[in-house]
Amino acid sequence: MLGDVPGPGVPATGASVPGAPIPVPAVPDRPARLAPYGLRCEHRTEPMGLGAPAPLLSWRLASRQAGDDPVAYQVDVTDLTRPGTSVWSTGRVEDAASVGVRYAGPALRPRTRYGWHVTVWAQDGTRGSAESWFETGHDTWTASWITHDPSRVEPVDPPTRGEQALDDHGLLACPRLRHAFSAPVPARARLYVSARGLYEARLNGERVGDAELAPGWTDYRSRIQYQVYDVTALVRDGENVLAATVADGWWSGFVGFAPRRAGQHYGPFPEFVAELHLSYDDGSTRVVATGPAWRTARGPIRYADLLKGECHDARLETPGWDRPGFDDSAWLPATVAGDDHSSLVASRDEPVRAFERLAPRSVTRLAPGVHLVDFGQNIAGRVRLAVPALPEGRRVSVRHGETLEGPTPHGDPRIGDRLHIANLRTADATDVFISAGRAEVFEPRFTYHGFRYAEVTGLDELGDVHAVVLHSDIPWAGRFACSDPDITRLHANIGWGQRGNFVSVPTDCPQRDERLGWLADAQVFLPTACLNADVAAFFAKWLDDVSDAQSPEGGFSNVAPLLTGVADEGAPGWADAGVLVPWHLYRVYGDPAFLDVEAMARWVGFVHRNNPDLIWRHRVGPHFADWLSPGPPTPRPLIGTAYFQRSAALTARAARVVGRDGDADHLDALAAGIRQAFVKEFVDAGGRVAGDTQTGYLLALAFDLLPEEAVAPAADRLAELVAASGLQTGFLGVSLLCPVLSAHGHDDLAHALLGRTGPPSWLHQVRSGATTVWERWDGVGAPSMNSFNHYALGSVGEWLYSGVAGIGQAPTSTAYRELVVRPSPGDLDWAEASYESVRGTVGVRWERSPEGFRLDATIPPGATATVHLPGGTTRRVTSGDHSFTLVRGETA
Ligand code: BGC
Repeated sequence: MLGDVPGPGVPATGASVPGAPIPVPAVPDRPARLAPYGLRCEHRTEPMGLGAPAPLLSWRLASRQAGDDPVAYQVDVTDLTRPGTSVWSTGRVEDAASVGVRYAGPALRPRTRYGWHVTVWAQDGTRGSAESWFETGHDTWTASWITHDPSRVEPVDPPTRGEQALDDHGLLACPRLRHAFSAPVPARARLYVSARGLYEARLNGERVGDAELAPGWTDYRSRIQYQVYDVTALVRDGENVLAATVADGWWSGFVGFAPRRAGQHYGPFPEFVAELHLSYDDGSTRVVATGPAWRTARGPIRYADLLKGECHDARLETPGWDRPGFDDSAWLPATVAGDDHSSLVASRDEPVRAFERLAPRSVTRLAPGVHLVDFGQNIAGRVRLAVPALPEGRRVSVRHGETLEGPTPHGDPRIGDRLHIANLRTADATDVFISAGRAEVFEPRFTYHGFRYAEVTGLDELGDVHAVVLHSDIPWAGRFACSDPDITRLHANIGWGQRGNFVSVPTDCPQRDERLGWLADAQVFLPTACLNADVAAFFAKWLDDVSDAQSPEGGFSNVAPLLTGVADEGAPGWADAGVLVPWHLYRVYGDPAFLDVEAMARWVGFVHRNNPDLIWRHRVGPHFADWLSPGPPTPRPLIGTAYFQRSAALTARAARVVGRDGDADHLDALAAGIRQAFVKEFVDAGGRVAGDTQTGYLLALAFDLLPEEAVAPAADRLAELVAASGLQTGFLGVSLLCPVLSAHGHDDLAHALLGRTGPPSWLHQVRSGATTVWERWDGVGAPSMNSFNHYALGSVGEWLYSGVAGIGQAPTSTAYRELVVRPSPGDLDWAEASYESVRGTVGVRWERSPEGFRLDATIPPGATATVHLPGGTTRRVTSGDHSFTLVRGETA
C-alpha cells in the first residue's frame, strides 16, 4: 500500500515534529549528611497486599558531603495494627548494605500493616533514618467466583430496536454485579479483589482505587493476581453496596494475532471474586464476599475489548446501581462459577494507571461531523471526550491511528489527513458512545489503544477532548539531554515507547492485534528500560509469567504470558531472555531473588540435549534470526550457538551468586565447551566470523566468544562493515552495536551511526517526525508489519546514558556499587544524565568549551567510580560531587 513513498505520516520534507516531553519527577534535594530515602519493600513503595513471606527491604542514600558513606544500618519492623508491637530488629549491623535486607523475623500475619524504620550510620557516627510501611496480602479466600451467565442474557433493550446494527464483534455486554449489606462503620476496611477478565470495583457509588485494566495480564491458567485497596473511608453506617463491572480483557477478549474468537484463549466470559474485610476496634471482623446472594445485570457497556474497542450505550445506564437504595429486583442472581482460589496470587507490581492527559495539538474538520485530532504524541491510552446533549441514540465514534496517510482530497497530499489504520490489522481500535440525550464525558474503561491521532465522528462541534496516557506504574528514574536536540528527542521517543509498551507486561507494540510479551524485544530493551525507570517490580512480575510459560522439558517460551494459539518456545535470543533478563535485573538491582537458577539451568540443559555437539543447529522452536535486519543474514546456527553460550555462562554466574558452586562449575565447563565449538565452527584464523555480518561480530564480541588474538581483527572488521554500510542490524544486533563499537575503540563510528539522519538510522525516524521508536528502521513496509511504537530498536537508549553521557557500571559490579563514568563526546558540545539507581542518585554532566572540557559527576553514598576523561586520564573517586576540568590541549 505504501509502495516506495515514505511511511504514513512521514513528511517527505523531513520536517521534525516534536512530541510531548516526558514528565520526569524532580531529583530530590539532598540532605547535608547521610540519610536514607526512597524506601522500598519488594521493590515497591508502600505496597498493599504483599505476597512475599520474607520481603526485601531497601533504601537509597543521599548526602551533600563527599565520602559520606554508610558503615552500619539497623532495620526495625513493627506491627502497625498493634501499636507499639515490635516484630523484628536487625540490631545495628556493621555493613554498608542498603540495596537489600531481607526480612527474617517471625512469620508475617496476613492482612496486616507493618511499619519499618531504617537507621544508617556514617563513619563519624552521624546517623540518619527514615520509615515506611508495607501491608501483607490475603491468605484464605472464602469468596466464590461469580459471573453473569450469558445464556441468560435477554435480547437487546428496546431503545436499540430498529437502529442500524451495532457490530459487536461477537462480544458480550459487560456485566455489572452488586451486593447490598448492612454494617456499622469499621475502624479499617480492605477490599481483596480480582477477576478473570478486568474489573472496576465500586463501593457506595465511588470507584475503588485507581488501577486500570486490573488485575493485569498473567497466564490465568497458572496465576491470577489480586489487588488490595484501603476502603475504610468508603464504608458508611447502615446499608452499603459493593459493586463491580467486569469485562473480557485478556481473559476472554481478543488477544494477540491468532485468528481466534473472543473467549478462546483463557475462558469464555468474565468472572469476579472479592472479599471486603471490615475490622472493628473491639477486635471483631466481618467479611462480605462474592457469592450467590449477589445480583447481576448487563450494564451500558455493550462490549469492551482490548483490541476492538468499547461501546458505551448511555441509554442503558441505570443511575444509582452502585449505591444503597437501588431496586435490583429485576436483576438476576449471580451465577457461582466456582470456589477454586489456588491460582490467586498477590500482585507483585504496581498496576496500570492513568497518567497525564494530553491536550490536542490540532483539530481538523475533515467533513461535517468528522474531526481529526492530533495529540502530538504516540501513546498507549484512550480518548476522553466531552459529548454534548445529542439526540437520543446518536452515535459518536472514536477511531485511533498512529499515523496519517495520503494523498487525500483534504490538505497536504504529502502527509495526508486520513487515519492510517491498515497497520492495526484486526484491531478495530474504535470506541463508540451512544447518547441518552444528556451531556456526558465519555472515556472507555476496559480498553486501550496505541495512537497519536483520533478521528471523531458524530459531533458537529468538537469540545473538550484529551488523550489519557496509560501504562504500568513504573517510577521514572532517568533523564538525559545533550546539545543535539534530535538525540535528546530520540531519548524522549525511547521513553515514550517504554511507556506505551509497559502495560501490565512488556509488549512489542500497543496498537495492532499483537501486543504480546515477546521475550527478545524485552531482553534487548531491558538495559535501556532499567535506566529510564525503576522496573524491578514490573519485571519481577513478568518473570513469573516467563516461569509459568516454561515447558516441562525446560524450554522457555517466545512470548509470556503464554496464550493458546501463540504458544511456542525456544527461539534463540527470544527464549534466552529467560536467562538474560533475570541476570541483568540482578546486576542492576542487586537482588539475587531474580535468579531462578533452577529454571535457567533447565533451559540450558534443554538446548544442550537437543544440540549435544554444542552447535545450536537443531531447532527447539522457531528461529527469528536477527529480526528485521536490513543487512545480509547472519547464519542462524551462529546466532543460536552464541546465545546458547551466553545462557550457559550467565547461568553459571547466577549459580555462583546463589552458592550453587557445583552447578556453576558444570555450567562453566559447558560454556567453555560451547565457546570452543563456536570458534571452531564460525571463526577463521584471521578473526573473520562466519557470514561476515555486523550482528555476527557483535554477538561474538559482546558475549566474549573469541580467542584473545581474534578480538582486535574482529572488532576492526566490524568497524569496516559499519563504516562501509552504516546500520545493518536487526533486533538482536542493535542493542550491542554502539556499546561494542565503543568498547573496542570506535566511539567515532558509534557516534557516526547515532548522528546519521538517512535510513536506516534512529535520527531518520526523529527527523521524520516520529514521537516513538518504530518497528522498522525506515517506517516503510507492509502495513501488516509496520508498527510505529516498537521499542526494540530503541535499545540504543542504554548507550545514551552509558556511552554519550557516561553513566555506566563496572563489569563485575552489582547494584551500581562500582560506577564507570566514561563519556564519549563525539561531536557534541555537552550532555547530561541522571539516574535514580537502587543505591541513590547518579549524575553526570560534561561540557566542551573553547577553554577545554569540564565534567561534573555525582556518585551516591556507598559507591565508588572510575572516571575516564577524554585524552585517557583516569581518576578514582568516592561518593559525592566531583568536578574535573581539562584545559584545551589536554583533551584528545
Ligand atoms: C513482533 C516482534 C517479535 C516477533 C518475533 C513480531 O510480530 O512484533 O516484535 O519479536 O514477532 O519474531
